[in-house]
Amino acid sequence: MKTLKDLSKKGSNKFHIEDDLPFFEPEKLKEDYIRDEVEIPDLSELEIIRHFVNLSKQNYGIDTGFYPLGSCTMKYNPKINEEIAKKEDFLYLHPLLQIDYVQGILRIMWEMQEFLKEITGMDAFTLQPAAGAHGEYTGLRIMWEYFKQKGERRTKVILPDSSHGTNPASSSMVGLEVIEIESKDGMVDPAKLEEVVDENTFALMLTNPNTLGFFEKDILKISEILKRKGALLYYDGANLNGFIGITRPGDMGFDCVHLNLHKTFSTPHGGGGPGSGPVGVKEILKDFLPYPIVDKNDEDYFYFSKPPKSIGKVRSFFGNFLVILKAYLYIKELGSEGLKEVSRISVLNANYIKEKLKKYYPSQFDRLVKHECVLSGKIYKDYGVKTLDIAKRLMDYGFHPPTIYFPHIVDEALMIEPTETESKETLDEFIDAMIKISEEIKKDPDIVKNAPHSTSIKRPDEVKAAKDLKVKW
Ligand SMILES: Cc1ncc(COP(=O)(O)O)c(C=O)c1O
Repeated sequence: MKTLKDLSKKGSNKFHIEDDLPFFEPEKLKEDYIRDEVEIPDLSELEIIRHFVNLSKQNYGIDTGFYPLGSCTMKYNPKINEEIAKKEDFLYLHPLLQIDYVQGILRIMWEMQEFLKEITGMDAFTLQPAAGAHGEYTGLRIMWEYFKQKGERRTKVILPDSSHGTNPASSSMVGLEVIEIESKDGMVDPAKLEEVVDENTFALMLTNPNTLGFFEKDILKISEILKRKGALLYYDGANLNGFIGITRPGDMGFDCVHLNLHKTFSTPHGGGGPGSGPVGVKEILKDFLPYPIVDKNDEDYFYFSKPPKSIGKVRSFFGNFLVILKAYLYIKELGSEGLKEVSRISVLNANYIKEKLKKYYPSQFDRLVKHECVLSGKIYKDYGVKTLDIAKRLMDYGFHPPTIYFPHIVDEALMIEPTETESKETLDEFIDAMIKISEEIKKDPDIVKNAPHSTSIKRPDEVKAAKDLKVKW
């Protein structure tokens, strides 16, 4: 699509500034601010309106269509929660207000800590971290402090090759050595784990359900292996919509968990917006939590407290309160039965897609999944077609492409997360499109190789776009 600058014709005089503007007093301007030549596109109001309206129509979001971007839980979130979070009472709250004036807000935060404890089976929560990866960093720092106080210096963190990409990154930031273990049939192999766990093991960091969408079947055996050597267990709970209300990390023997409120509860993930990655811990780690924590006395008076051995603050003030608020509303609206339904439907939807498409996009793993499934475009390599081409072609059918080439353990991976908010009709339309693409590849692979055909931008250099970002000209 053309920019305003492209549309503008110099000298057409559709736009001009009056010389004698009443408020224009150039003598009051600082000299550096005065420019003779300012490039203002020469366009009429109508042309500008059309440009921006058409530009807005190029956008793709969950309100426009299906967005099965694996690992991102791009589901529809109730608008009412956005409306409530936009209310001035919440929007303009000053973080330094005396706590007597914000008892209601503190109650929300306290209740949220309690809800999350109940959902995960943990003993205490901090709402401070601003994203999932930030939660991972916070949790690992807490665990680091725990070992330090015990006088132990453990350095190894074990990560399955099916873990989320932020797990090794956060471990490195805390100064830990990452030991990756290979999966067996897409899951942790207890025998392999046993070989690497020793007295120097700091923790196992487990994404569960993992990036293949599989729930670790040997979870109790895994936690037992780590406990025997005095290591801790970290649970990446960002895929919570695959098990909420059904099972809890705390009951599986895990010591620390983070959640992504912005994936599971009413805030869209991605787009660089604010997030929230609360961290829950078991009793042994409680004293190290960042502060402030919200506490309550017997008179139902809420106040901030600081755990005795706190690692300090990981963010200014109290975390992203508006994201926490939306998550709180979502939990209240759905209740415990509603939350169970979230995981039941997300699992049903992912398995429905997998079963319908596995014949057309087979991967080496085929078992029951939780919230997402990973298929593969590998068989189409013989036609010269890559998974990237399939993803691009999906755009012509009106769908946002799934995550591709991740996880790395599946060649030509297509990671599809339908989420719990999509109807069977939408899933069927997506499945039809995927089947049509597989037929196109066999008949005329160039259609797919040269896709997309319907978008204004065709094939940008994606690496350059990510590494050399230009957001203005
Ligand atoms: C399983 C898992 N862990 C961690 C993260 C990181 O969360 P964030 O992007 O908020 O840092 C994500 C994000 O999607 C995730 O899916």
